[in-house]
Amino acid sequence: MRIGILGTGTLAAGLGEGWARAGHEVAIGGRSPVKAEKLAERLGHGVLAVSPREAVTGRDAVLLAVTWDGVEDMLGLAGASDGVFEGTPLIDPTNAVAHGVGALLTALGESMAGRIAGLAPGAHVVKAFHLFPADQWTGSPGSGRSRVTVAMCGDDAAALRLVGELVRDVGGAPAILGALDRVRQLEEVAGFVIGLAFAGIDPNSAIPHVPSPAATN
Ligand SMILES: NC(=O)c1ccc[n+]([C@@H]2O[C@H](COP(=O)([O-])OP(=O)(O)OC[C@H]3O[C@@H](n4cnc5c(N)ncnc54)[C@H](OP(=O)(O)O)[C@@H]3O)[C@@H](O)[C@H]2O)c1
Repeated sequence: MRIGILGTGTLAAGLGEGWARAGHEVAIGGRSPVKAEKLAERLGHGVLAVSPREAVTGRDAVLLAVTWDGVEDMLGLAGASDGVFEGTPLIDPTNAVAHGVGALLTALGESMAGRIAGLAPGAHVVKAFHLFPADQWTGSPGSGRSRVTVAMCGDDAAALRLVGELVRDVGGAPAILGALDRVRQLEEVAGFVIGLAFAGIDPNSAIPHVPSPAATN
């Protein structure tokens, strides 16, 4: 696939590396062309440094790997209001949470994915990859890293399928929670995990092991 990444930080590097290793064409666009070039060079595997608009144009999927408060600026740089995202799966991994506390910074009932859908007309927004640290995706195949489930929300079935493939390509298992009207739940889970982790508690220990009906049949 032809994948565009908006942002040049830790998550852009982690997923960029994972997808490039899996054989995808990855193009990185940041607000700083120098940082995009440095990251592309560091990742190798033919990863390209491009402008934000080029990172979106003609791509099979785009990852919006910027801090939550940079989303509006970055979508502006990419030309979102010109309709450049029309029909494109747009992956939202952002966490708008208070650092070290985990409380959501979005207004009650609002979600980052919903905000992004409003700012990028025509995009098929899929919330995914927001829960695991970026280095989850950089292990080489067979490195022994445990297989994790990536819960996702989105309104477009084809976009969810495509992002599911991208999850598998970096060693995860995709799971669809529901449409974007459920995405606030996914965003709250990140706040829950971050809040407990910063309090020194393993978030996994706070979740009951509930076998799924499918697993018990
Ligand atoms: N890192 C992780 O393990 C991880 C895991 C799950 C989800 N996430 C989420 O993924 C997103 C990216 O996280 P990260 O760790 O990669 O952050 P990061 O390393 O701090 O990188 C942030 C990126 O956002 C860009 N940015 C910030 N403000 C901007 C603005 N106003 N306009 C344009 N670009 C702007 C930065 O550009 P400059 O470098 O030019 O400032 C940089 O490219 C966040 O929403 C985070 O919550 C991260």
